Amino acid sequence: MGMYNDRLEAAIEASKRAGIYLLDALDQKRDINKKGIVDIVTDADKEAEMIIHNIISEEYPNDEFLAEEGTQDKGSSGLTWIVDPLDGTTNYAHRFPVFCVSIGLVKDGVPQAGCIYNPNLDELFTVHRGEGAVLNGEPIHVSTNDQLINSLLATGFPYDIRESDQDNMNNFYMFYKHGAQAVRRAGSAALDLAYTACGRFDGFWEMKLRAWDIAAGILLVEEAGGKVTDFKGGPVDLFKGEVLASNGKIHATMQKVLKESAKLRLI
Ligand code: IPD
Ligand code: CA
Ligand code: CA
Repeated sequence: MGMYNDRLEAAIEASKRAGIYLLDALDQKRDINKKGIVDIVTDADKEAEMIIHNIISEEYPNDEFLAEEGTQDKGSSGLTWIVDPLDGTTNYAHRFPVFCVSIGLVKDGVPQAGCIYNPNLDELFTVHRGEGAVLNGEPIHVSTNDQLINSLLATGFPYDIRESDQDNMNNFYMFYKHGAQAVRRAGSAALDLAYTACGRFDGFWEMKLRAWDIAAGILLVEEAGGKVTDFKGGPVDLFKGEVLASNGKIHATMQKVLKESAKLRLI
């Protein structure tokens, strides 16, 4: 029995309730607000956050709570919930069915447990440090592929893509033209990590992510036998947002490609 099993149960209940709400509300008329030129938030993001917060704060009132849409509680237990109530919100707003709920439990900046729920496929990924990663009750493992040319990779692009030249385009170009079999940009970093954990993707990289995008996902990849670092191979800082996650076997090669592409200027 892991020490955070009760909390993980609460996270599972919260992510399922929120996920089922999101799926039920998918066809309703959306209230969409812009946080930036292409960064949106919908009424459903906020409602899902409220569902999760109600469940978790009632059971664990002494835990800190931090969620993307602004719900924040201070805590005294030393544990922090880091929550993305809807990862893939642009997809959601267009009814493109790739989105999920991600809940991570963090101590001293290090993820201890978490879950990612994809209501579209009714897939629940759960993880507890030291106890492995699980999909719908079955243990999962990263892929065994050791060749980048045979690898399916995933990535994403930051919301400031129009304003910043740190836009990931050089990396995307390099991996597609000189690296992988193919690269996907499905629009949910949490699912990209969960899919790397269960071997559907061989690797994933992205920059400018937020803690709620990755808190649960990076632990899933580690516990599924994979490797997670920043682009240079150092430890991931949840609040710095640079993630390279892989099955371990293609990690060094991916790091090399990222190093090469850093020299590349596309425009
Ligand atoms: C976004 C998604 C997307 C990633 C962005 C994230 P949101 O989260 O994970 O795949 O490329 O960087 O911000 O806004 O849908 O919760
Ligand atoms: Ca997100
Ligand atoms: Ca979100």
